[in-house]
Amino acid sequence: APHRPHPSLVVTPAVVAHRGASGYRPEHTLEGYRLAARLGADDIELDLVPTRDGVLVARHGSELSATTDVADHPEYADRRTARRVDGVTLEGWFAEDFTLAEIKTLTARERFPDLRPGSAAYDGRFGIPTLNEVLAMVHAESTRSGRTLGVMLELKHAAHFAASGLPLEEPLLRDLGRHGLDHARSRVTVMSFEPGVLRRLARRTTVQVVQLLDEADRRPADLVADGDHRTYADLCTPAGLAEIDEYADGVAAHTSLVLPRSSTGEARGPSSLVRDAHRQWLTVHVWTLRAEDRFLPTRFR
Ligand code: G3P
Ligand code: CA
Repeated sequence: APHRPHPSLVVTPAVVAHRGASGYRPEHTLEGYRLAARLGADDIELDLVPTRDGVLVARHGSELSATTDVADHPEYADRRTARRVDGVTLEGWFAEDFTLAEIKTLTARERFPDLRPGSAAYDGRFGIPTLNEVLAMVHAESTRSGRTLGVMLELKHAAHFAASGLPLEEPLLRDLGRHGLDHARSRVTVMSFEPGVLRRLARRTTVQVVQLLDEADRRPADLVADGDHRTYADLCTPAGLAEIDEYADGVAAHTSLVLPRSSTGEARGPSSLVRDAHRQWLTVHVWTLRAEDRFLPTRFR
């Protein structure tokens, strides 16, 4: 694409705050994203799911009890249900069964209080933000610091929600447009594990699009639903990357696809993905580098 340099020339690593400053504040809260910006992150990462009235809110998954106090609200007791999402049966409360006004009565909670007691200390203090609110905060922080904060947006379970009458593209494009961010030069990137939603988006917007790549033997949920049983390893081949290049600016790969060893030390062998993706003129992001991974270069630990 003419608007970007060859990816191998982009040599400065970017620090992306995964779900915000999620080691210090409950994940996917305005306060967690703002702290990440002030700690110097180049970008923040948001996972997005829809409410019943079609508003995008920041949650890792649509099941709410893992990261909010929904189970403590007697008025929502009868919303508890079991649901199959992309082949996995989940039990609990689902964002798509709640209006935005109802979501706004909940507070965020640390998912791993034992691992992150500092974050758990903020349980009950922060609400669930909409994408619109996060983009307004990003604008305010960028103005304050004089440095444009990047935003990486992950659309969760897009085919599943589209089948339920909640296509994610509409509210996404509406919110980006409202903030003047719906174009290639904005510091916004839209990501998904599902090629389908990214293809549809690429036909409607020039905003940067990135194909997420999961572990080699897993499969994109929307392809499986369409009877296409290719794995992410198949998408990592030169032919697969050429196909991704039809709609995406880059890929974001699970660490196991690019790092030579796992965190427990087993050798995975050198990966050809970075080379092959760069040959296809695709940028390469990697998720998620964690402090506990002893095979990271020292400066990332
Ligand atoms: O950005 C990619 C990464 O966030 C995907 O995994 O489960 O943390 O959303 P997950
Ligand atoms: Ca994510």
